[in-house]
Amino acid sequence: MRRKLIAGNWKMNGSLTANEILLAGIKADIGRPDCAVAVCVPAPYLAQCQSLLNGSPVAWGGQDISVHASGAYTGEVAGAMLADFRSTYVIVGHSERRSCHGESNEVVARKAASALASGLTPIVCVGETLEEREAGRTGDVVAAQLDAVLDGLQAEQIAKLVIAYEPVWAIGTGKTATPQMAEEVHALLRSRLIARNPGAAEVVQILYGGSMKPDNAAELMAMPNIDGGLIGGASLKASDFLAIVRAAC
Ligand code: G3P
Repeated sequence: MRRKLIAGNWKMNGSLTANEILLAGIKADIGRPDCAVAVCVPAPYLAQCQSLLNGSPVAWGGQDISVHASGAYTGEVAGAMLADFRSTYVIVGHSERRSCHGESNEVVARKAASALASGLTPIVCVGETLEEREAGRTGDVVAAQLDAVLDGLQAEQIAKLVIAYEPVWAIGTGKTATPQMAEEVHALLRSRLIARNPGAAEVVQILYGGSMKPDNAAELMAMPNIDGGLIGGASLKASDFLAIVRAAC
């Protein structure tokens, strides 16, 4: 039985004041959840998260990582820097990084390896565009995205991954994949993991992301291969985020 994970992706939102209010709201009502909970925040706010979340059930992490360990890479954030602030997770390969920053499957694979080398858990995002879905290419697209990451890892490292299936057409649009549509892709992703390392495949959490909200979270997470959520908009409101956490626990 895999433990569920609810991870908030704040994207480029927040301020010291807004974060303090949001995190206080989450901490006040979270209790002791059975599932794992995390927030992935803009890098400048990692210190604030470390200070406000230390000792709480909520872990924190970044939204991107450099493929390099250090050096002349202006604007990049190294894995060791995320680890300095006791980050647990880092998102890699989010569709917004792929589309706005041209991140290829190969770059995403290097970022996942970089995260593992820094002791971080990469949340590896995969997902198809609407055009790809309508062309019947969903399976091929997500399989290629996942396989590129798996190709760069030792079989025993696979157990240290979290995967997030985020159909691009569902992100921030209010359109959610039906539980059956999402489960079909999650099962395919699980089968790719099984082909590399059956034992590890059983423990890897595969999250769904894309307009997951309090009113659809429970039915999505009732599916056998949906092990939690990567939450964008609804992670910015404590009551909505906590409602999704409760739906998972
Ligand atoms: O990474 C989370 C994400 O892309 C989903 O965003 O706003 O549709 O929940 P949202």
